[in-house]
Amino acid sequence: MKTILIANQKGGCGKTLVADELAFSFDRTDVKYSLYDLDGQGGIIHKPKVIDDADYAIVDTPGYIYDNLGELIQGADLIIIPTRTTYKDIPTLQTMLELIEQNGKSSDTMFIFNAWNRFNVAAAFEDWFKTVRDGRHVSIIPQSEEFAKAGMYGKSVVEYAPRSKAALMTCKTMNEIRLQIGLPQK
Ligand SMILES: Nc1ncnc2c1ncn2[C@@H]1O[C@H](COP(=O)(O)OP(=O)(O)OP(=O)(O)O)[C@@H](O)[C@H]1O
Ligand SMILES: [Mg+2]
Repeated sequence: MKTILIANQKGGCGKTLVADELAFSFDRTDVKYSLYDLDGQGGIIHKPKVIDDADYAIVDTPGYIYDNLGELIQGADLIIIPTRTTYKDIPTLQTMLELIEQNGKSSDTMFIFNAWNRFNVAAAFEDWFKTVRDGRHVSIIPQSEEFAKAGMYGKSVVEYAPRSKAALMTCKTMNEIRLQIGLPQK
């Protein structure tokens, strides 16, 4: 079983959105997975589940400091770091990257620039990110009200607003994740 850890101790950066959309992508393609909600404060659309014959585990994590993040990083096959892209997001991301490096997992990491729009990528963030990226993959999910609307109906944005930019970019991002974990594109 492969474990996909979705982590960034910055609150509200899109961890749960990514966990849900990945679970929706697996639902659509009959991938067997367990889903762990280590946050437990609600907000996730999918009901957490553990199944015996899971090929993947999706692990959604809290947006606050907790003790066992190092262990979780060590046990992960892929670490997805959703982040927003303002200068305020730099310190937490820096801490995350240091922890990942200490645990020898830098090359198993990918980034998602979430809630991206062309106004909120601060030059300070871009300049800093270039110095830490180290060739790792970056996917982009745009800022869109369609996510909130889809969520109200308990749906993936891909089903709720299939022609929207939000859906197209989400599909692309999910395919990029699938590629990293050895699943076919969908
Ligand atoms: N790309 C986006 N466009 C618009 N709204 C978004 C986007 N991504 C996330 N949001 C909204 O921002 C809020 C925070 O997102 P989410 O819950 O996924 O973050 P989180 O990292 O899991 O937060 P926490 O650290 O509190 O667990 C939610 O209301 C979500 O719907
Ligand atoms: Mg969350």
